Amino acid sequence: MPSVSLSTAKSTTFTADAVIVGIRTDEDKGDLAASLDLLGFTGQKSQVMVFPSHGAVKAPIVAAVGLPPEPSAEDLRRAAATALRSLNNVSSVALDLHPASVEEVAAIAEGVHLGSYAFTAFKSAADDASKDAAATVDDVTILTAFARQSAATAAVERAQTVSEAVNVARDWVNTPPGDLRPAGFAEAISEHAGSNVKVTIWDDKRLEKESCGGILGVGRGSDSPPRLVKMTYRPAGTTKKTPHLALVGKGITFDSGGLSIKPGASMQTMKLDMAGAAAVAAATVAIARLGLPIQITAFACLAENMPSGTATRPGDVLRMRGGTTVEVHNTDAEGRLVLADGLTLAAEAKPDHVIDVATLTGACIVALGNNTTGVLSNDDTFSESVMTASRTTGESMWRLPITEEMRDLVQSSTIADLRQHNPKPAGGTLFAAAFLREFVGELSWAHLDIAGPSFNEGSAHGHTTVGGTGVSVRTLVQVASDLASA
Ligand code: BES
Ligand code: ZN
Ligand code: ZN
Repeated sequence: MPSVSLSTAKSTTFTADAVIVGIRTDEDKGDLAASLDLLGFTGQKSQVMVFPSHGAVKAPIVAAVGLPPEPSAEDLRRAAATALRSLNNVSSVALDLHPASVEEVAAIAEGVHLGSYAFTAFKSAADDASKDAAATVDDVTILTAFARQSAATAAVERAQTVSEAVNVARDWVNTPPGDLRPAGFAEAISEHAGSNVKVTIWDDKRLEKESCGGILGVGRGSDSPPRLVKMTYRPAGTTKKTPHLALVGKGITFDSGGLSIKPGASMQTMKLDMAGAAAVAAATVAIARLGLPIQITAFACLAENMPSGTATRPGDVLRMRGGTTVEVHNTDAEGRLVLADGLTLAAEAKPDHVIDVATLTGACIVALGNNTTGVLSNDDTFSESVMTASRTTGESMWRLPITEEMRDLVQSSTIADLRQHNPKPAGGTLFAAAFLREFVGELSWAHLDIAGPSFNEGSAHGHTTVGGTGVSVRTLVQVASDLASA
């Protein structure tokens, strides 16, 4: 990630390879007016034009980026990212986007760190041209009147920690599924956690002893056995009054569908199916690095969903942790099975709230599209806290209901306590959430279905780069930070 610093300097006199200037549609274009008018720059949101400055400013290259009249923090985050990605072969950049608050300065820093992300681990070193242009930027200076305020420096540092977490989650999601199987993913989380977070890994034998029939049932078709990763963070001076948040993530390192196998086209991106676990693990580490005064207990439920002679069959009954029996009807609805064990473990830790994050249902994409996370909850107040946090971070989320119809369907198995799957696809996201709710008891719970926004199959836009997006990491950190300061 580039290093980001702050300066009160003017964009006209600042020395850098390039300067990015935010132009609001309602503002005078200043010294650049002639060039911008010639280029046909209208200033429409996130429009970028790059041109030689020819002395109009000190930097040899100017990138003008359009901003609306009253830009939100998210507008600035996107503009910073888009403008940065439009620059080739520059190593130092100044950003003149006129942030109106310390929060907006932080948003610009996030835009820089998130927008310049590229996954190059599997590109040959010699193949420089294939590396993302923005990855060549080393030094970014945000020009702002807040530069000398310690709150601004602190906000930029926080932005860096949080962006690092998003980018780690992206790395994990982007790693090919054959290179990130349950045991390897568990190790990667443990290595990333460092010393502030305690990590315990349960292998398949331990999962057996602990009666985690959901995780085992999903993982048994694979020759790479499942894992459960428990992460705990206790801030210094923890007392009984310190808030306690539990997190649970779906970590299917590859979802073939199992015996209810997916058609080839639907399987193509199914390395993304561990994005929930990646988000939860990365957010936990960020919360610890920020030293937020809140306890976190996180569970990453890792398994590979494969068809084989040892795989769970449609019709099998699994006994989950806690004793609930579940009749499996479709082995492709595996996420809810691993999450059931994770949520039971989370409830045992007696936190104040639990949030699970999962690429759970294609139905959520049908309902909300590719950019919006579905929020389902048994607690209106907590669900509103999650929504509030998402508005702070700019991550698009929308609440969906858990209806009585779905509860009745979940409880309609003729041979077990619950049925895992509703053969009718209508309301698939709601049914899945109704199933998960059976495992949280009275605990205050929110479920984030990130099936749509977890992976960008198209080209980069704003701070959303290609592939894994790291979605929900920033909102999880924000929820923790809001609970910590409540
Ligand atoms: N991992 C998928 C959900 C998914 C689909 C995530 C597309 C991201 C993009 C999940 O395990 C799944 O296969 N769900 C099924 C559920 C169905 C069998 C009830 C689905 O959505 O089709
Ligand atoms: Zn599936
Ligand atoms: Zn899945």
